[in-house]
Amino acid sequence: MGMITELTHRCPLQCAYCSNPLEMDAVKGELTTKDWCRVLDEAAALGVLQVHFSGGEPMARRDLVALVRHASAAGLYTNIITSGVLLSDAAMADLLAAGIDHIQLSFQDSGASKADRFGGYHGGHAKKLEAARRIREAGLPLTANFVVHRQNVERVNDMIVLGEELGAERIEIAHVQYYGWALLNRNALLPSREQLEHTNAIVAAARTRLSGRIAIDYVVPDYYAARPKACMGGWANRFINISPSGKALPCHAAETLPDFTFPSVREHSLASIWAESDAFRRFRGTAWMPELCRSCDLREIDWGGCRCQALAVAGDAAATDPACARSPDHYRMADAIAEAENAPLNLIPRRLQHN
Ligand code: FES
Repeated sequence: MGMITELTHRCPLQCAYCSNPLEMDAVKGELTTKDWCRVLDEAAALGVLQVHFSGGEPMARRDLVALVRHASAAGLYTNIITSGVLLSDAAMADLLAAGIDHIQLSFQDSGASKADRFGGYHGGHAKKLEAARRIREAGLPLTANFVVHRQNVERVNDMIVLGEELGAERIEIAHVQYYGWALLNRNALLPSREQLEHTNAIVAAARTRLSGRIAIDYVVPDYYAARPKACMGGWANRFINISPSGKALPCHAAETLPDFTFPSVREHSLASIWAESDAFRRFRGTAWMPELCRSCDLREIDWGGCRCQALAVAGDAAATDPACARSPDHYRMADAIAEAENAPLNLIPRRLQHN
């Protein structure tokens, strides 16, 4: 149903919780405009309904407007997931003319000084506020996305108020998910149980207050969960993710999995990748599951959780997600929480080596 096109790993921000892989794709290896247009056509033919232009920062690609135009002409619903710092008046007008349907704008905090520190971009927050204004003035629906963690979680209420002031239709309060750079910085980002409970209460109250006006999506950290999330709606079930260099992935973090060869859209059609590739078939459905998952009533609800988290925490991508309380590795989540408790708060910023 959905295709995430990671157009580039370039990004002017340096968020320490970035979900991009530690080894990012170089600029010179990125797919060309022609490649992307072919992939968009193939996606539409395959039955994809929504395309999410993501990155890195998708607006760092000069051909973004052309790609939105192409996707729109192919009948795809188009969404841009952006930091907003490059969304000028001219860019907004061009995207609108190209047929953009929706923009999701990310925020690092509720106020400029902290947000700019977490994003590693001086003046970034002010640019985002301008970008939000442009989106609303263009008459487009806006999702304001706030990534929360141990170092900003006490300002969740201010974030929701900011989303309201910006006129967002949807506010996403998303605790960091620990993949890529975020996993590297887990000890400095993972909230305490008290902090999580505080966020839960703030979000519940805001949902009541804003009911019927603004939808609030809330994503919690798996480390405190008793049941795993249905990551990506199940492996190769509803989403396909294309990396900047053209690798087709069932999720954005899949390249961390060992013993996988991810097919390239340079060499294979999307239809054959989806239906025939080992990478997409390996964890699809329920047949691959360990006995613990296969005999569970929730197996077609959570689809065994997250393969990348099973690898990162339990060391085995085919294991039951350790977020599940029934997993023999569940104790590792508690260990991670304990390890983070007194860890220093320094963050390793995400940086792309330019080559
Ligand atoms: Fe890869 Fe969850 S992030 S399966």
